[in-house]
Amino acid sequence: MMGKVIAIDGPSASGKSTVARRVAAVCTGLYVDSGSLYRGVTHAVLTRGIDPEDASEVVRVLREADISFVEDNGAVTFRLDGEDVSDAIRRPEINRSVSAVAAVAAVRERVTQWLRDMRTHGDLVMEGRDIGTVVFPDASHKFYLNASEEERARRRHAEMPADDASVEEVDRSLRRRDKLDSTRKVAPLKTAPDAIVVDTTGLSIEEVVQCIVDHLGERA
Ligand code: CDP
Repeated sequence: MMGKVIAIDGPSASGKSTVARRVAAVCTGLYVDSGSLYRGVTHAVLTRGIDPEDASEVVRVLREADISFVEDNGAVTFRLDGEDVSDAIRRPEINRSVSAVAAVAAVRERVTQWLRDMRTHGDLVMEGRDIGTVVFPDASHKFYLNASEEERARRRHAEMPADDASVEEVDRSLRRRDKLDSTRKVAPLKTAPDAIVVDTTGLSIEEVVQCIVDHLGERA
């Protein structure tokens, strides 16, 4: 039996991951962070000393890397070469290189197939950039979260260890990644025509979760 999918898309630091995790808990679906897979492939590329801009080498790493999926604490996550890399994939080096790796068509095809296969695990709440547009255009519910650039830089900065970077640096890095993600040829970040857009600027996590849950209730 294929599970239902709730798609939550949006740019970096729009609040997707925290919100999607809570929505998954409320609707008893499994949470999936699609970006973690692009980050995982990027991690495999960097640890092998490969240039993330070299698409043919990136594709070679993609063939070599051993990715397996596990259900863990209400989420579907993965192991890379048998290891839990959830902390390693949040490194600043990954932030700098992930958009280049995610722009490679063969990487997107592979990750999209992994994400589609997760449907066999049950109902999913999946967050990302192209879930409602490309991965699951037939998702039962689609949301697009946004927030002002200033607010997103502030949120991302607040999540980081003190002294790691200034708000301005975080802002520059987010803008750069948003630009790369929304202008790439394959599956750029954009709003699905049938998505409900939620501007989260000035809203608390609870308010955003409530807004989504209200919409789900209306159309359930
Ligand atoms: O945590 P944050 O929102 O900053 O990013 P993420 O969700 O971990 O995604 C990291 C990167 O993966 C993005 O900047 C995109 O380049 C790529 N990505 C994508 O292309 N498509 C997705 N569905 C999810 C992520």
